[in-house]
Amino acid sequence: AESPLEIVPVAGRIGAEIRGIALSGDLDDITIAAIRAALVRHKVIFFRDQFDLDDAKQEGFAGRLGKPVAHPTVPVAEGSRFLLELDSKEGYAASSWHTDVTFVDAYPEASILRAITIPEAGGDTLWANGVTAYEELPDSLKTLVDNLWALHTNDYDYAATLGGADRKRIEEHRNVFASTVYETEHPVVRVHPESGERALLVGHFVKSFVGLNSADSQRLFSILQDHITKPENTVRWRWRAGDVAIWDNRSTQHRAVADFGTQRRTLRRATIHGEVPVAIDG
Ligand code: SIN
Repeated sequence: AESPLEIVPVAGRIGAEIRGIALSGDLDDITIAAIRAALVRHKVIFFRDQFDLDDAKQEGFAGRLGKPVAHPTVPVAEGSRFLLELDSKEGYAASSWHTDVTFVDAYPEASILRAITIPEAGGDTLWANGVTAYEELPDSLKTLVDNLWALHTNDYDYAATLGGADRKRIEEHRNVFASTVYETEHPVVRVHPESGERALLVGHFVKSFVGLNSADSQRLFSILQDHITKPENTVRWRWRAGDVAIWDNRSTQHRAVADFGTQRRTLRRATIHGEVPVAIDG
C-alpha cells in the first residue's frame, strides 16, 4: 500500500527524510505502521524540527515503536527512564563504525536519536547500508561469510573508537561501558526478520571471527568494513537541533564524525528491544 507519509530520499541507497509529522503528537496506528515500514525500507529516517519532543515524549514515542530497553551498562540520562545521553563534554564522540549494543544476544532492533545541542559546523553522523553491502560482495566473499560467525564484546579497543578523547577520558568511559563484560556470537550475515533481506553484521564490537585467529580476523574485519562503509552505501546527516534520526539497527552501521573540537554536542538516544539474529541457515 502507498505510505501515508511524505518520504524524501536523502541518498541513493539509504536514508530518507519524513516530513509533516510531529513525533510528540498522538500518532495513530496507521502512522506508526507507516513509520516502521519506512524504517525497514530506508534503514535510517530523519525528522526535522521536533522541538516539542522532550525526554518524556521521546520515551513515549519509543514505546509506540516497540519495547524500549535501557543500555546494559551505561546509567540512564538524568531525569529519564531509559534514555542514553551522548554528550561531547565527556570529550569524545562515537566516531567508529558500529551497530548499537551487538555485544548482547538480543541487541536493539532500532535506535531513536534526538539532537539537543549541535555544533555550528561538524559533528555529522553517517549510516551505512548492510544489505547493499552484502549484495555487492563478490560471490567468493559471500560464500566465505554466509556461514561465518563473529564474536562480539564490549571489551573492545576504546582508544581506537572514541574520537577526541584523551587517555583519562577513554579509561573513564571504558570503566563504565565495560563495567560488566558481555560476549556473544552472531552470524556475519543476518536475515532481516521483517524484510527477509540479508545484511552484513559486523562493526567495532567484533573481536574475532569464529575459527579464525586474531591476525586473520583483523584482516577479514577490514575487508568487510571497507565494503560496508564505502561512500556509495552511506548517508551523511548534517544535524540541526530538534532533529530526530531513527535507524534500523538490524541492517545498518553508523558513526559520528569527531571534527567539532571543543564545541558542545548533545544527543539523547532511545533503543528498542530486538530479537536474537537469525542466520541464513536458520
Ligand atoms: C551512536 O553511536 O548511537 C551515536 C552516534 C552519534 O553520536 O552521532
